[in-house]
Amino acid sequence: MPFSPRVFSGMQPTGNLHLGNYLGALTRWVEMQSTHDCIYCIVDLHAITASWQDPMELRQSIRDVAAAYIASGVDPKQTILFNQSKVPEHAELAWIFNCTARLGWLNRMTQFKEKAGKDRENASIGLYDYPVLMAADILVYRATHVPVGDDQKQHLELTRDIAQKFNSDYRAQITETGQYADGQFFPLCEPVIMGPATRVMSLRDGTKKMSKSDASDLSRINMTDDHDTIAKKIQKAKTDADGIPSETAGLAGRPEADNLVGIYAALKNATKEAVLTEFGGAQFSTFKKALADLAVAKLTPVNAEMRRLSADPAEIDRVLTDGADRARAIAGPILSETKRLVGFL
Ligand code: AMP
Ligand code: TRP
Repeated sequence: MPFSPRVFSGMQPTGNLHLGNYLGALTRWVEMQSTHDCIYCIVDLHAITASWQDPMELRQSIRDVAAAYIASGVDPKQTILFNQSKVPEHAELAWIFNCTARLGWLNRMTQFKEKAGKDRENASIGLYDYPVLMAADILVYRATHVPVGDDQKQHLELTRDIAQKFNSDYRAQITETGQYADGQFFPLCEPVIMGPATRVMSLRDGTKKMSKSDASDLSRINMTDDHDTIAKKIQKAKTDADGIPSETAGLAGRPEADNLVGIYAALKNATKEAVLTEFGGAQFSTFKKALADLAVAKLTPVNAEMRRLSADPAEIDRVLTDGADRARAIAGPILSETKRLVGFL
């Protein structure tokens, strides 16, 4: 039986969301709502893996991220929107997958190596196990499409490996049901990584990803930055001595220029080629002015809506509870069937 298409994605409630999250993930998510059944999650269980989170701040961040999703255009009526810890099926399936995934597979995960750093002995088990929980997030809904930024590619490959090994470990039980003629209980989900901004880079260093954890606030545009701050950060963004080229070949070896052109293209929903046709030959000062105006025009209304929503936390909590109920209605039967296949009574 072919899988009906279903989209799942998630984001951690830690720190401020920035332009990379907005362009690399949120705008994609919003687009997919019109063509697919979508489930979007605030992955709070993942949020406590890397470091201790202040409980009051964590609660606040969960609501803030929910507000950012909705303000960016995620429609909680049409789409299922909830925080991960409200749906225990994620953690329960993750345990089963802990017994499917191999140590060798997790040892290859580059994000763990980066986040654990030199002091690996002191990293939490949760940080190491993070990609297994991520696989459970997706597969507990048997989701087929996962829109994410470029940095999540390796985790999605692991998700496919887990699905494949589970399907093969329990092939006899799966085919016995008669419902899964091709022997596939879990789908091999596809990453959806597209558009000109799958990897938005730091405004201070075009070779580094724009990130919540960068020490310099000038390196990123936060979704909560006001008009003047956005304009100032773009004006101060690092560039090189040349102007804007007329063709994409002229961006080669110029990471900062490439990044700014990519951001402009993504905000405008255009290609880099189209942006270069418009600005080719211009000075950076002219281009930066246009970029700042565009970024402000795009982000200011989202920002205002985030603030309006945040003023009513009870309403956000209600939306998340409703989303969790709808999520459990899908995850519950899939987890029960998984447990039956494994042989639990
Ligand atoms: P994170 O901020 O790491 O929790 O990521 C949340 C989502 O935003 C994931 O889908 C990431 O791939 C995406 N993302 C994070 N940073 C960037 C970036 N600099 N450029 C593009 N996408 C990003
Ligand atoms: N690891 C993802 C990130 O850091 C967040 C995430 C957790 C996720 N579970 C997921 C993304 C499931 C997509 C699907 O961005």
